Amino acid sequence: MAEPDHAPTRIHLTFDLPPKAAADLAASGHPTTSTADVDGSKEDRRQALVAAAPGASAIIATVSDLVDAEVMDAAGPGLRVIANYGVGYDNIDVAAAHDRGIVVTNTPGVLDEATADLAFALLLAGARRVVEADRFVRSGAEWSWEPDFFVGLDVSAGATLGIVGLGRIGFAVARRAAAFGMRIVATGSRASSSEAAALGVTPVELPELLATSDVVTLHCPLTPETHHLIGAPQFAAMKSSALLVNTSRGAVVDEDALLEALLEGTIGGAALDVYEHEPRVTAGLLALPNVITAPHIGSAGIATRERMGAVAVENALAVLGGATAPNPV
Ligand code: DGY
Repeated sequence: MAEPDHAPTRIHLTFDLPPKAAADLAASGHPTTSTADVDGSKEDRRQALVAAAPGASAIIATVSDLVDAEVMDAAGPGLRVIANYGVGYDNIDVAAAHDRGIVVTNTPGVLDEATADLAFALLLAGARRVVEADRFVRSGAEWSWEPDFFVGLDVSAGATLGIVGLGRIGFAVARRAAAFGMRIVATGSRASSSEAAALGVTPVELPELLATSDVVTLHCPLTPETHHLIGAPQFAAMKSSALLVNTSRGAVVDEDALLEALLEGTIGGAALDVYEHEPRVTAGLLALPNVITAPHIGSAGIATRERMGAVAVENALAVLGGATAPNPV
């Protein structure tokens, strides 16, 4: 094997990369360390990262690792890049990184279709009560076909989908919704684009989206502006039959207000992949039949996870090799 054309500098990983990405990294000749086997809370994992960081030139982390100033300072002045394995990067203190001259990167584009698939799976499962029906059958209860048995929303009969944040993933959801004959309304600067118009998307402001949608699906990043974007006033503005789908970030929704809205019948149901205090789920939601829960698996396709690994490694190696990272944030 050819010698690497750079001084080998250490890359720290917080998780096990998928096989091909791991092989790419091994071929680079950089020594690696790992805290993949650390179990426990986010804080336990952060502490393990602080302990392992000294001397690292790169950290490749996942969206559930907290990478804050303490981690960066523990690594020391040699830390040049934090490559996130994910498109969202609210787990990283980007301002602190930039203050220290550290490049932060993410993995945009490669997980749009997988995440849209999961959003649509949750949409269909919530609309047609699939999880509730599955639980019912497994309960062993007596049943026979009835006209009003487990009836739900007719997705394909012109139901309205509200996409909050029409970005890359939102567009992938819109393409699926268009194929299902849904009426689509959306917020976001690209909602007024010709690409959106070609899919039949009507651009609206959030209040109109909330008032008119049968299903509201969230696709905005978590920022100070979108924290609790959907809370009690927004639930009150939604249809009492509306389904909320969240595959973005938990804290975009005020989870206490969501529980209240579901208990009061202010909205019809929720299908969630992400949680405000992840991995903890607000007590009460799990007891409700009209709530579907998944453990943050939006991008969990085998090929998607390989692509995310390849992009994260590519970003880290680019910076360590003195090149511009393909995906800086
Ligand atoms: C992301 O990439 O931000 C997802 O939440 C995990 O793939």
